[in-house]
Amino acid sequence: MTEKLTNTFHELFGAEGDIRTYFAPGRVNLIGEHTDYNGGHVFPCALTLGTYAVARKREDRVLNFYSENFSSLGVIKTSLDDLVPDKKAGWTNYPKGVMWAFEKRGYKLTHGLDIAIYGDIPNGSGLSSSASLEVLTGIVLKDMFGFDSLSMAEIAQIGQYSENNFNGCNCGIMDQFASAMGKKDNAIFLDTNTLEFEYAPVALPDAKIVITNSKVKHSLVDSAYNDRRNECETALEELKAVLPIKTLGDLSEEEFEAHKNAIKDPVRTLRAKHAVYENQRTIRAVEALKANNIEEFGKLMNASHVSLKNDYEVSCEEIDVLVDLAWKIPGVIGSRITGGGFGGCTVSIVKNDAVDTFIETVGNGYKEQTGHTAEFYVVEVGDGAHRLS
Ligand code: GLA
Repeated sequence: MTEKLTNTFHELFGAEGDIRTYFAPGRVNLIGEHTDYNGGHVFPCALTLGTYAVARKREDRVLNFYSENFSSLGVIKTSLDDLVPDKKAGWTNYPKGVMWAFEKRGYKLTHGLDIAIYGDIPNGSGLSSSASLEVLTGIVLKDMFGFDSLSMAEIAQIGQYSENNFNGCNCGIMDQFASAMGKKDNAIFLDTNTLEFEYAPVALPDAKIVITNSKVKHSLVDSAYNDRRNECETALEELKAVLPIKTLGDLSEEEFEAHKNAIKDPVRTLRAKHAVYENQRTIRAVEALKANNIEEFGKLMNASHVSLKNDYEVSCEEIDVLVDLAWKIPGVIGSRITGGGFGGCTVSIVKNDAVDTFIETVGNGYKEQTGHTAEFYVVEVGDGAHRLS
């Protein structure tokens, strides 16, 4: 992987000097969806799929970007003096956004860079290719410019900040955090309110994590995402009038039920209900996993899907077909939509001896019912972003 990218780098920019390689993973979230901007818990893990960079510092302030995934665009040349969002800049808005955010935090970038990128996360799949590119840029800058005091958690926050303020998507911290802080064979139980976290082993002896890519992505995603955020924020304000809380993540199910009448709109009530219940489900799911009760973990995954479908309304027909097909297969422990929603992927936990049947049955059924061809990834849980050489 990196050998090919390094050769491409040499061809484009020359082979001399201090050339370094890096990797930042994508993520899949096992449970805890749309809780990360509601002060709740999430439980994502880093994948071994991700984005690679080969990079070298320059003497001047020029930035030369090349992506093997967008090879027809060739080398995109810009400069450290031009860190402004620009539709025409395409994918380079992500690394540029991170550079802009570094400068804003006082981490001065004194030299330009030549940088070649390649990513093996399927495009538009909701497995966080953009977050991985942001975190990748973060570790390139940390390492190349010697920002030793900068922690990986801060790199995640800078990535989120750049996504929110440079690239205009109001996402939470989950994706960047998972990419920066991932640990092989572990998922990250993260309290998004405090950023306290712990690792929990997910190396299951007799089951696999299977991601199913619906290959559909409905437009509206960003606006619907921001709508959900606003609805939750308004519901929180209404609840604050009657309860001493800071986030929806502060509430138990019982407290929510006792005070939900403070929310003056039925749709907002459903959104807040999801945020509260999903957070509690996530806490319970991690307890179940720690107690080796994978069946309970699976049930909570399924309940998460129902809530995302009915209360949060971020699923779609195609994804529901995938989940319904999965639920019927013996050996499927749990299955749900993962990520922002409106298409993208499902995540399922499938017993080893059911994986082949799963892929065949879900694949055929999905094709029959929707006309689309699903893709399947039996994934491994990998480490967070790091320098390779
Ligand atoms: C997207 C966002 C995350 C999170 C999920 C939903 O992936 O980037 O911050 O909100 O949606 O859980």
